[in-house]
Amino acid sequence: MSFFMFKSILAVFFLLAGIIALFSMLTLMGKTERKADAKLLRRLHKGSGFVFAALLLVISYFCVKYWASAGDQISTRAVFHGVLAFAVIIVFVLKLLIVRFYKQFLKFVPVMGLTVFALSFIVFKTSAGYFFLRTFCAHSESSEISTPSPPVLKGKIDNGAALFSSKCASCHSTDREESQGAPGLKNILKKEKLPASQRPATVETILLQLKKPFRVMPAFPSLSEQELADLLAYLKTL
Ligand code: HEC
Repeated sequence: MSFFMFKSILAVFFLLAGIIALFSMLTLMGKTERKADAKLLRRLHKGSGFVFAALLLVISYFCVKYWASAGDQISTRAVFHGVLAFAVIIVFVLKLLIVRFYKQFLKFVPVMGLTVFALSFIVFKTSAGYFFLRTFCAHSESSEISTPSPPVLKGKIDNGAALFSSKCASCHSTDREESQGAPGLKNILKKEKLPASQRPATVETILLQLKKPFRVMPAFPSLSEQELADLLAYLKTL
């Protein structure tokens, strides 16, 4: 199972825990009639809140590790996702602090809880939601994307290697085929299929990956024709 699939499955449980925490509290505080099962609802809220917090920590740990290795190369979507995830953590921790220690601010807690849920939903959508969408619904769409034509320029392997180490090596290794977050690119153009999308392994589909990445990889729209030719010349040697 790939890193992103694992993280996305954990995220489904994270969202479910958030939904349970939300509705247990909404039922407890938002309904006017007397609730016989108030104790149960409170327990449910606490229990799901605990699962939510634990998953938030575990997933954040994986994300921060990935972010640390990929550096500034990550996609705009991933930056947006990461920043919102930090906001979730901050509001959530403040909410817990108020509930435990700063009870004068208790009146803000329901709004903070709703904010945590709303932000978590967006955080889920911008990573796991996007990942599932691309994984399960991208087939019909991929036939509509026109594959770019290979560069006419002749590529220089040395320049390609330098480009690779500045733009790609933070995520991809070249000495193995297995995935470590991102797939290893050894033998990338000697195999039949590309590792993530399963498209045929050709110059055209790699160019497509650089312009319109299949799933979570950032796009590289600013590479010139010459740079693309250099990169591909280098990838052929792997
Ligand atoms: C921020 C990390 C990151 C960077 C930087 C990055 N990639 Fe990727 N790349 C990925 C991930 C993750 C995947 C797997 C895609 C997926 O699962 O959606 C991938 C997949 C690929 C694939 C396989 C695509 C397929 O269709 O299966 C190729 C080829 C590739 N990258 C080449 C490159 C090249 C060349 C560069 C540099 C110009 C680069 N990558 C930069 C993360 C990155």
